[in-house]
Amino acid sequence: MTTQRQARDGVDVPELAVRDVTVRFAGIKALDRVSFTVAPGAIHAIIGPNGAGKSTCFNVLSGVYRATEGSVQFGDQELTGLRPHQIAGLGVARAFQNIALSAVQSVEENLMLGRHHLTKTGFLAGGLQLPQARREDRRHRARAREIAEFLDLTDKLDIPVGVLSYGDQKRVEVARALCTEPRLLLLDEPVAGMNADETRRMAVLIIEIRAALGITVVLVEHDMGLVMGIADRVTVLDFGRLIADGTPAQVQADAEVIRAYLGEAAEVPTEPGATPSGPAPAPAPSRAASPGATPLPALPPAASHPEKPS
Ligand SMILES: Nc1ncnc2c1ncn2[C@@H]1O[C@H](COP(=O)(O)OP(=O)(O)OP(=O)(O)O)[C@@H](O)[C@H]1O
Ligand SMILES: [Mg+2]
Repeated sequence: MTTQRQARDGVDVPELAVRDVTVRFAGIKALDRVSFTVAPGAIHAIIGPNGAGKSTCFNVLSGVYRATEGSVQFGDQELTGLRPHQIAGLGVARAFQNIALSAVQSVEENLMLGRHHLTKTGFLAGGLQLPQARREDRRHRARAREIAEFLDLTDKLDIPVGVLSYGDQKRVEVARALCTEPRLLLLDEPVAGMNADETRRMAVLIIEIRAALGITVVLVEHDMGLVMGIADRVTVLDFGRLIADGTPAQVQADAEVIRAYLGEAAEVPTEPGATPSGPAPAPAPSRAASPGATPLPALPPAASHPEKPS
């Protein structure tokens, strides 16, 4: 039996347990017996130098890669061996590092693509615009707009994604993932390429998503200020191996983590109370919404959506 948490809309948010996962590509072990657990409702970061295996880990969690060995359990459900759409159907959504949106379609249509698997109306009824299909479409559009408002995208709903700024496109990517009504949200480098303001805004947003929906957020990120500022727990990979797993303070003070980031020549402080020269160069965003940030509108859980994955 695994730990569960009740999300705001009464949907169970289970624990994610990665056990002894190994992924081999010709000649290399991209992941080598990696084990960690993600508590329900946590903001959990996976960090590590380039090539450490972070994206491979996300690819295993979302079913893009199949683990050579080991298991991934989401509550009582074994994910290894499932196809990406089956994993998505269990409430696991991924926002991609390289934006995976349709550039020529509007923000609203991109968000509606996120709701596609929740649509019950068949192709024929939809095509014929039968009343039942129109009602369902209205309901999904209303929810997509609610999510857009939460991400401050309301005034961009009719704009083709391709003409938006990079920061806006990244928010649309997160909004599309939220439109699937996930219980576990995987964010692959959500602030890569963003400026400081956009990064702060995204940090506040991630905190607000968890607060509003009660879902689990796992993020892969190189921005240590963001990670150390918002993560409850951090898993550190290096050359496919897990080298540390703990609170932000614990991993920042971990000698092996410091070595992995700074190289063998790194001076590891041994004096009690000494400040490690760990990977925390950027200013950390506040755990609470930062005072200057625009407050986000409330995002109600999708209580009125009986088609959510159960
Ligand atoms: N499809 C693949 N075929 C062969 N090797 C791969 C494949 N995907 C990843 N690798 C290798 O696995 C290792 C881990 O790669 P991965 O992309 O998971 O690293 P990462 O931690 O995401 O790095 P970065 O921070 O640069 O994105 C690397 O050596 C990479 O070259
Ligand atoms: Mg990567």
